[in-house]
Amino acid sequence: MKLASILLAGLLVLPSLTADAAAAAATEKKIDDLLGRMTLEEKIGQLNQLSGFGYDPAMVGRINAGAVGSILNEVDPVTVNKLQREAVENSRLGIPLVFARDVIHGFKTIFPIPLGQAATWNPALVEQGARIAADEASSTGVRWTFSPMLDISRDARWGRIAESFGEDPYLTTVLGTAMVRGYQGDDLSKPNTMAACAKHFAGYGYSESGRDYNTTWIPEPLLRDVVLPPFKAMADCGAATFMCSFNDINGVPSSGNRYLLRDILRGEWGYDGMMVSDWGSIQQMIPHGYSADLRQAASQAINAGVDMDMEGYAYVGHLKDLVESGEVDMATVDEAVRNVLRLKYRLGLFDNPYVDEKTANRFYLPQSLEAATRAVEESAVLLKNDAGVLPLASDIKVAVVGPMADAHHDQNGTWSFDMEKNRSVTPLESLRDIYGKDKVIYAPGLKHTRDRSTDGFAAALDAARKADVVIAFVGEEAVLSGEAHSRADISLPGAQSALLKELKKAGKPVVTVIITGRPMVIAGDLDSSNALLYTFHGGTMAGPGIANVLTGRAYPSGRLPNVLPRMSGQLPIYYARKNTGRPAAEMTLIDDIELEAGQTSTGCTSYYLDAGDGPLFPFGYGLGYTTFSYSDPVLSATEITPDGTLTATCRVTNTGSRDGAEVAQLYVRDLVGSLVRPVRELKGFEKVILAPGESREISFTLKAADLGFHRLDNTYVVEPGDFQLWIAPNSAEGTPVSFKIVH
Ligand code: GLC
Repeated sequence: MKLASILLAGLLVLPSLTADAAAAAATEKKIDDLLGRMTLEEKIGQLNQLSGFGYDPAMVGRINAGAVGSILNEVDPVTVNKLQREAVENSRLGIPLVFARDVIHGFKTIFPIPLGQAATWNPALVEQGARIAADEASSTGVRWTFSPMLDISRDARWGRIAESFGEDPYLTTVLGTAMVRGYQGDDLSKPNTMAACAKHFAGYGYSESGRDYNTTWIPEPLLRDVVLPPFKAMADCGAATFMCSFNDINGVPSSGNRYLLRDILRGEWGYDGMMVSDWGSIQQMIPHGYSADLRQAASQAINAGVDMDMEGYAYVGHLKDLVESGEVDMATVDEAVRNVLRLKYRLGLFDNPYVDEKTANRFYLPQSLEAATRAVEESAVLLKNDAGVLPLASDIKVAVVGPMADAHHDQNGTWSFDMEKNRSVTPLESLRDIYGKDKVIYAPGLKHTRDRSTDGFAAALDAARKADVVIAFVGEEAVLSGEAHSRADISLPGAQSALLKELKKAGKPVVTVIITGRPMVIAGDLDSSNALLYTFHGGTMAGPGIANVLTGRAYPSGRLPNVLPRMSGQLPIYYARKNTGRPAAEMTLIDDIELEAGQTSTGCTSYYLDAGDGPLFPFGYGLGYTTFSYSDPVLSATEITPDGTLTATCRVTNTGSRDGAEVAQLYVRDLVGSLVRPVRELKGFEKVILAPGESREISFTLKAADLGFHRLDNTYVVEPGDFQLWIAPNSAEGTPVSFKIVH
């Protein structure tokens, strides 16, 4: 019976697979035909991406000559069509351009930065946000975005952690895949889709010391087990393009890294999408000290597998000479051109190159703003709520304080190029809508987040004295995170911490809301607060989303996508750490050490005298307005073979008096390995909404094959031995159960 049903299923699916294969073959034939008619100059033109602003005659000349393959940063639909017409109707072969833009967390309706979307632990919501971004951006003619960014980020000094999904490969994989689905939909040739771009390939998040563009040293097992898995998932899920990263990996810049771009991406993974450089990253191999000049850089990049040169002028400047001199094979150029043409066919640009100007500029639809508000609500992480000061009562007077309370520009965060600040709704505006203007006293206290002046403190304290509750909005301006914006000290900038301390003098409950682009050091600020809600730049609807959570119209369900360190000096810090040979035991902290204490008096284990052992808050942590209990996990088996699976089941119960959402997290530990293994690794999660008293049985199916790792010789192994498993509310809690992998 089973065989028959499999055969039947195969017969049912076979026609669509055959149709897909036939369509792919037809596309390759069209590419062959076109390639056969292209001159070397026209081939090189397809590999050239330039930034364009307006209908520029010099650009038009390049387009007519077939010297441009893609334009980024043009977002006016009329201009897009005019430039496209120069390619399709006024160039020799009429090959359409593909227009690109950094649509990183929304186009006009700005969603939370990706790190904030990660805090939702909600793939469906991330997918919806990407779908909305694609619909808005494609309505201007943009059909390719440089997103999702999949760089595993474990050093919060690095400003680009804002663009990431945080420190964990599994969470990054699930959310990155959801984002690709949102951008590309089920048919990339539809005009309201965008090609995704898996970036930055690879290892950029390991920039040494968290300083952007810095060198990285990534041993093979770390590359294979932490850095690459999200990118492999992108290749598997059909992300249409990849972007290579600025950094060198162990001395070889990604833009010239044949091992990465050909051996792994093409050879091992069989990827047939298109690889674009990062902005000028081919040219930057000269300052890297990897290329003597732009000619050598062009040769290294094309041979390594970079198809398109973004704003580097390396290919248009040197590829012709390199091919004619025999230093670069024509076949190598043809392969790159194929990948570019295949992208354009997949986007349907040959059949439908123009954006529909009648339906252009589809922005800010009510359902989009609603979805953006939900995303803000679900991205908010409640870290403290003493005496249940939250949710706020409705019949109170509130003092709204802090430089991020009414920051129309800065609440949108980094990479929100097309944002319109006058469309942003701020927390101050939303709280005034909810409480009425006469019940909201506003005194920012500081002009911006870097302001060191205390001139505004008196007014803020006065407002606090007149109110029942103080809500202080602090954090980082948008410019303090993102590309090239690393910070060595990741505490609140300016005099914000001093402002929070000052507010305590009013003797009223202080609710601190952090709006920021990164995990920050907030230990002192936590002490100044009765409640603390941690949010990442939330975008257009940051105000309504945060206000809904503060007032109980929504409940907080965000969970940390990174640990929060106690001190900057702990960085890099992450939950999936190694146990060491001397894990922290009894710790004598710096203020408790006796004078003239003996050398070994503080114990010889792994911790900081001034910061202790772990983070301030663990990965996956977050509170709600209710409480939850977990039953001990029950396993379907306590022994499995390397090709086996087991099911882990646990019952989660809402033990409080309010609705709430809980993110049940599945962690595993391999206790002994031929390489030491992390103390925990996330292998699954499920977000469930439960009413008071409601229970839900949550089951995870775990494959032994997913519990392996790469050895130093690069072989992937699933080793027999003892394992522990948790189903828990975060990476630091829960009672483990044991199982074995046996031969
Ligand atoms: C930038 C970034 C990259 C972005 C590209 C285009 O320098 O590194 O993430 O997509 O250039 O703006």
